[in-house]
Amino acid sequence: MLGATTPGWPAVLADGAVLLRPYKRGDARAWSEVRVANQAWLAPWEAAPPGPWAEMNSPRAFGYVYRDMRRAARNGDSMPFAVCLVEDGRERLVGHVNLGNIVRRAFASAYAGYWVDHRVAGRGVIPTALALAVDHAFGPGGLHRIEVNIRPENGPSRRVVEKLGFREEAYHERYMHIDGGWRDHLGYAMTSEEVAAEGGLLARWRRVRTSN
Ligand SMILES: CC(C)(COP(=O)(O)OP(=O)(O)OC[C@H]1O[C@@H](n2cnc3c(N)ncnc32)[C@H](O)[C@@H]1OP(=O)(O)O)[C@@H](O)C(=O)NCCC(=O)NCCS
Repeated sequence: MLGATTPGWPAVLADGAVLLRPYKRGDARAWSEVRVANQAWLAPWEAAPPGPWAEMNSPRAFGYVYRDMRRAARNGDSMPFAVCLVEDGRERLVGHVNLGNIVRRAFASAYAGYWVDHRVAGRGVIPTALALAVDHAFGPGGLHRIEVNIRPENGPSRRVVEKLGFREEAYHERYMHIDGGWRDHLGYAMTSEEVAAEGGLLARWRRVRTSN
């Protein structure tokens, strides 16, 4: 029974113009366009598969990426969301939020990863998307803890988790192979208790946004 192993999946989440949904096979062209246009923006921060960027992010490559994401989601290992902006009635794929490496039982934890198209950066798309995903994880997803690991040099990403109120809790030396080397990462985390009293992370983010 697939459903029994995948609490909270599939799901569609939305707040204002920001929409999170499972990927579709038909996303190949849009995904490839945004990935290719963002090579310089994304490469310093991503664990990329070996090979030329254009090839690893072609519409054909999306077939493999899609199959892997679908399998992982079906197995209950991850919740991979396409992040879209819905403006003037049109939906545009602009980013990605994944809750990955899901471990259940006594750990009930996942790692969050994300990126957004540089053409819409700075508009709060990812904080909104991450808040939606975290609330979903703590609710229907049945998880208790979300962790985010970020290179110390990645100021914009650190701002995302700091604005949402994740705790900085660790320094991981030579943590992940990214952009040609083993890179240190800062570990941030949040558990469900930390946002329960505030009505969830999206509610907290809305308050933070309006008070700035
Ligand atoms: C990190 C990232 C996902 C943030 O997404 P976002 O939707 O732009 O998030 P925000 O709108 O909250 O902006 C976050 C910070 O980016 C910076 N920023 C703002 N406008 C920007 C712009 N036009 N271009 C670049 N950075 C900008 C600011 O420091 C901002 O923090 P602030 O709110 O204190 O001013 C995005 O920068 C990105 O995709 N970076 C490359 C991939 C990456 O780093 N992924 C995460 C790996 S851990």
